[in-house]
Amino acid sequence: MKIGVFDSGKGGTTILEAVKRVLPEEKYFYIADFENCPYGEKTKQELLEITSAIVSRLRKWGAKIIVVACNTATTNCIEDLRQKYPELKFVGVEPAIKLATKTDARRILVMATPGTIKSERTNALLEENQKIDQEIKLLACPGLAEAIEENDDVEMTLRNVLRGVGDFDCVVLGCTHYSLIKDKIQKFFPKASLVDGNEAVAKRVKQLVEK
Ligand code: DGL
Repeated sequence: MKIGVFDSGKGGTTILEAVKRVLPEEKYFYIADFENCPYGEKTKQELLEITSAIVSRLRKWGAKIIVVACNTATTNCIEDLRQKYPELKFVGVEPAIKLATKTDARRILVMATPGTIKSERTNALLEENQKIDQEIKLLACPGLAEAIEENDDVEMTLRNVLRGVGDFDCVVLGCTHYSLIKDKIQKFFPKASLVDGNEAVAKRVKQLVEK
């Protein structure tokens, strides 16, 4: 089975690795859309145009399953992409809010791009899953994915976005780029558990392939 995976850059490789761990024999195409990075500060319309062009290319290469390895693109575009390309199967990654609210964490921080934080989908995930005794803070982190992509000023950008944010017992890495700097984020929240949606994506892709 040919599987297409894309992101604005290297963040999605964390998903690609997770999928390859459970499905090592499939054939993968990975598109890192450096030209349009960062996605996190683009409008929904811009994202839809960009991601449609990528999906068309992956389809031409024979991909039958498309993994949207980007929270920003998933939360803003995946439903439109499903309608536009009904012959393809889509699996997306979204902030692991559901997973975080299932733990006994009381204070949950969701770090993501501005585009993911303001999306309807992220806010719906919060409303659907938040328990009465849980506090969930959505934190937009402008510039962080770009700093990680370019490996430039990552520590300083991280310090700036997390300044004064407070203490949390669970941190949701709601951008695939952030999984690449897990260790650095953990230092700011030494006691917190850090969660992302990568394993859930791998599980879903496996189910589709086995079908
Ligand atoms: N890695 C992407 C995400 O998960 C996009 C980062 C960006 O390009 O802003 O949201």
